Parts: sequence; C-alpha cells; structure tokens
Amino acid sequence: MSPERHTRRDALSLGAAAVGAVGAATIAGCGEDEPQQPKEKPERLIKADEVQVGKPKLVKRPHGRMLPGREFEQIILVRVDDKTIKAYSNLCTHADCLVKPKGKTLHCPCHEADYEPTTGEVITGPPPKPLAKVDVHIADGWVMTGTA
Ligand code: FES
Repeated sequence: MSPERHTRRDALSLGAAAVGAVGAATIAGCGEDEPQQPKEKPERLIKADEVQVGKPKLVKRPHGRMLPGREFEQIILVRVDDKTIKAYSNLCTHADCLVKPKGKTLHCPCHEADYEPTTGEVITGPPPKPLAKVDVHIADGWVMTGTA
C-alpha cells in the first residue's frame, strides 16, 4: 500500500467518523430542543353519574375509527365503584366486530364471544386477547378522555 493511498483511507475514515459524531449530536440535540408533543386535550364523554355499577354504557369515541358499514368505534364505560370507571374500545380483538353490553358480559355477536366487564378479559369465544383499554378519568362530574 502506498503512503498516498494510506493517507486517503485515513482521511475518509476520519471524515466518516466526524460526520457520524455530528449526526449523533444533532439527533441527541433534537429531542432536547423541540417541545414535547402536547397531550391530547381531554374531552367530555358523559356525566359520570350516568354510568352505574352493573350497567356498562356505550359512548361515542372521539377520533374513533370508522368501520365498514359507516359505523364508528365506541367506548364501553364500566363503573367499578364510586371513584372508578374503566373504559375499553368496543372493537372485538378477534375481527373488529362491535362489542356491546349484554347481560353481565360485554358480548361480540359475530362469533359469540364474551368479555368480562371489569377487566376486559375474554370469558368465552375466539378473541385472542382482552379488549383494548382506553384512558379515561373523572373530573368535575364528567367522564373525560385521557389521564388526569
Ligand atoms: S369478531 Fe368478535 S368474536 Fe369474532
């Protein structure tokens, strides 16, 4: 290897290392200088006292998915006690059919599946996993989207 060629290789290596270092510094700096993504503004869903123990409620999900047949994804609200309301997407985890409260369960009519209301876990049927949880909280007497 000639001295001149060795020098070029060294120069290229140094250049690549320098570009890499600048790139890493730029990426690290981006996260620190840019503002955090704003949290989605909480939206009112329903008066909290309209959701009673043992009587799950379906409410419109803000920004929910539109499904074939022009139906929209909804949220199932389940009051557990005076201070706790749980919420799930009503999209069945098997094939996205719409789950609805029925008797003591949350029922999917497409393949006769049932979910446990207070946990969202599958009781019977083919769904591979529990209903997807949705963050909600109670504020000023309203069930609101998001965390408190
Ligand atoms: S889509 Fe709900 S059980 Fe199949």
